[in-house]
Amino acid sequence: MYTFRDYYQNEIQLSFMDHPFSKEPKHVWVICQYQGKWLLTKHKDRGLEFPGGKVEEWETAEQAAHREVMEETGGIIKSIYYLGQYHVAGKAGHVVKNVYVADIEKLERQETYYETEGPVLISEIPKNVKTNKRYSFIMKDDVLTYCLNKIMSD
Ligand code: GTP
Repeated sequence: MYTFRDYYQNEIQLSFMDHPFSKEPKHVWVICQYQGKWLLTKHKDRGLEFPGGKVEEWETAEQAAHREVMEETGGIIKSIYYLGQYHVAGKAGHVVKNVYVADIEKLERQETYYETEGPVLISEIPKNVKTNKRYSFIMKDDVLTYCLNKIMSD
């Protein structure tokens, strides 16, 4: 278990165990790879980030991962696995989020990308991501760092 502060000084707990905070998390975040690149979306307010969002009442967290990736990037997932889960103690309430790693089969152009401007492919996540204004706050804490290290070591 890792404990640290996020960009807004909220406390985050991150674990690579099997659903340590909730069996039914209400949020998902999907680290996507497509043809050897990272697949992000450009959120209209927050900037570049891996796709994700809220789990709707009728779906599982993994189904939400598929839907959010499609809605925000047009990506169809070839394979996906659960990586870990994190808990954010936010000022307005607590958030529990599953992190998945997905390999994308293809990108289908969408009429709308909802609250995002759609897919963005990058070869490398910049070293200065924590200070880079183009990137969303959710890319600026150690969830990303630990998750990328975990993916590389698995
Ligand atoms: P809406 O109901 O869609 O307006 O959502 P919201 O803006 O209330 O945000 P949400 O319920 O998704 O999250 C509440 C708060 O938790 C956010 O304002 C953030 O401070 C925090 N939060 C949510 N997701 C993340 C995340 O992935 N990383 C970090 N560091 N904080 C997060």
